[in-house]
Amino acid sequence: MKITKAVIPAAGFGTRFLPATKAIPKEMLPIVDKPTIQYIAEEAIASGITELLIIVSRGKDAIVNHFDKAFELEAVLERDNKQAMLDAVREVSDKIDVHFVRQREQKGLGHAVLCARAFVGNEPFAVMLGDDVVVSDKPCLKQLTEQFEKVGSSVLGVQRVGMDCVSKYGILDCDRVEGRLYKMKSMVEKPKAEEAPSDIAALGRYVLTPAVFKCLERTPRGAGGEIQLTDAIVMLSKTEDVYAYDFEGKRYDIGSKQGFLQATVEFALGRDDLKDEFGAYLKTLVKTI
Ligand code: UTP
Repeated sequence: MKITKAVIPAAGFGTRFLPATKAIPKEMLPIVDKPTIQYIAEEAIASGITELLIIVSRGKDAIVNHFDKAFELEAVLERDNKQAMLDAVREVSDKIDVHFVRQREQKGLGHAVLCARAFVGNEPFAVMLGDDVVVSDKPCLKQLTEQFEKVGSSVLGVQRVGMDCVSKYGILDCDRVEGRLYKMKSMVEKPKAEEAPSDIAALGRYVLTPAVFKCLERTPRGAGGEIQLTDAIVMLSKTEDVYAYDFEGKRYDIGSKQGFLQATVEFALGRDDLKDEFGAYLKTLVKTI
């Protein structure tokens, strides 16, 4: 079965980026000139997703506006024959159906995913977090949906993060099946290094079967007082196989300032229109550090 629906939870407070995120959603912070959430939507499109649901909350209207038609702006760009800018403005909204639902209270990522139940219905679906932007030859989500088509069960996107970073992620206890594919035995949210079963972390890309909703319904508040997607996936793994795939690609932790800055610099250096001038500027800076 092909995965055609994806959910992007974007209702969190984004406290690590305050005060910027007081009035601007974290997902709208640009990497160079494109909001983070657009990179995620583009990955979804490149992975064969045709319907996208974004979970928003109060104060996140800029996300809704971003995916809407900008009628006046487009009319002016059309009049002035600014085709490249017009294409940039229309890039995503013309290629995918985007829906929105509000999470009325920020009770955690698991609760945000539960808000997608009516949209998803009874079919497998993808969850994509804006905190992780992945640059890869084959889109990260596509790597996971291909595995899903092989194993017919939920597949989590994972990478090794090093034992010094395990306390930031959902960490898996798992066995290798073959190559990059693992079978999950358990998972623990943000463990201390000495308690972590491995350094294999779930990194913001999931393909899940709809049975996860029944688990989410029964998941009590966990780490940080939030309803954790991790806990629901552990519950799911008791009744269904859950796999993990060590996806290929460079991943940026955009939810942290360090990751956000790294992505900004590296994405700029990857752009033909910026790399020469910006690269030369960086070289002058390096001499002064
Ligand atoms: P995070 O905890 O990383 O995001 O949640 P946050 O809460 O927005 O950021 P900080 O930690 O305060 O800086 C992971 C993802 O889950 C979403 C967030 O928007 C983010 O994409 N989320 C989290 C929700 O949609 N609802 C919630 O109640 C909590």
